[in-house]
Amino acid sequence: KPLVFSGVQPTGNLHLGNYLGAIRKFVALQEEHDCLFCVVDMHSITAQLVHEDLKGQTRSIAAAFIASGIDPAKHIVFNQSSVPGHAELAWVFNCVARIGWMNRMTQFKDKAGKDREKASLGLLAYPSLMAADILLYRATHVPVGDDQKQHLELARDIAQKFNNDFSSRISDAGLGIDMMVGEEKVSGYFPLIEPLIGGPAPRVMSLRDGTKKMSKSDPSDLSRINMTDDSDTIAKKIRKAKTDPAPLPDTLEELEGRPEAQNLLGIYAALSDRTRMDVLAEYAGRQFSEFKPALVELAVEVLAPITSEMTRLMDDPGHIDAILKDGSARANVLAEKTMSDVREIIGFV
Ligand code: TYM
Repeated sequence: KPLVFSGVQPTGNLHLGNYLGAIRKFVALQEEHDCLFCVVDMHSITAQLVHEDLKGQTRSIAAAFIASGIDPAKHIVFNQSSVPGHAELAWVFNCVARIGWMNRMTQFKDKAGKDREKASLGLLAYPSLMAADILLYRATHVPVGDDQKQHLELARDIAQKFNNDFSSRISDAGLGIDMMVGEEKVSGYFPLIEPLIGGPAPRVMSLRDGTKKMSKSDPSDLSRINMTDDSDTIAKKIRKAKTDPAPLPDTLEELEGRPEAQNLLGIYAALSDRTRMDVLAEYAGRQFSEFKPALVELAVEVLAPITSEMTRLMDDPGHIDAILKDGSARANVLAEKTMSDVREIIGFV
């Protein structure tokens, strides 16, 4: 049975990339699937250990989930550190994964910078904890933005290596499940997870430079739309967004080489749940001076209610904490089952 898991780090403000690449997809998936949505607070101490207000940031991600439409009664909304199984399984995966696999991760190389020896050990092992997040629930589907693709491939490799290394123990204990790898049927304990990366905006780009990802760490606030921006700020940022002088073309092929135009079109399509083709059919031949006001209107219509609901929820931290606590209790039950299987498979007394 498909099970959805995804996580968001409580570092810095959420932006439109996080919303369109991840959270908006979570909301759509919850209609048909059982889901776990996790605020990954343990991941947030890998790059920077000491945070000004980690508790407040954690609550604000939970508030964003709920304000966007995730139902915490039907699905599990919780924070990672409150379920000890994440750390426990991550340790096992640290022993399954190879250092070389971690060294190859582009995100590690970017975040560690020039002097890799000075990066925390946690930053290097980051993908191992991420694999544990997902596989602790034996989740099968993981909605994320395009930047997490490499991490999910690694999570798949970890699952596969664990399944291979322990294959006879898994079958002796009667804990194997059958799964298809291409045409081939294999058995293992952990499922081979499937990333869900599609949609019109899997990689939302900076509003100032269409070749750079929209990110929390960009020094220019004009480069991104924050989930906490008010309507005037959203309007100003879209008005100032970089574009080229040509009008919108008839086909997607004609957008090649126009990254800023592609980005704004993708944002419009994702915010309106339409395809990029469909939006082009409406706006072909029009200038950005016409398209931008339409995008402002749409963005404000979608984001303003979420922002105000987030603010309302943040006024009552006790309520958010109660939701997280309830989610953790439910997550723990599932996690404990997996960990008892894993301890048995490995041979921990
Ligand atoms: P994080 O916290 O950096 O980002 C949260 C989600 O937002 C997506 N995202 C984007 N999508 C499109 N365009 C962008 N510009 C953009 N920027 C960010 C990310 O892809 C992500 O889906 N390692 C993860 C958190 C994590 C996780 C997990 C995810 C930890 N454990 C298990 C899935 C499953 C991260 O740092 O996301």
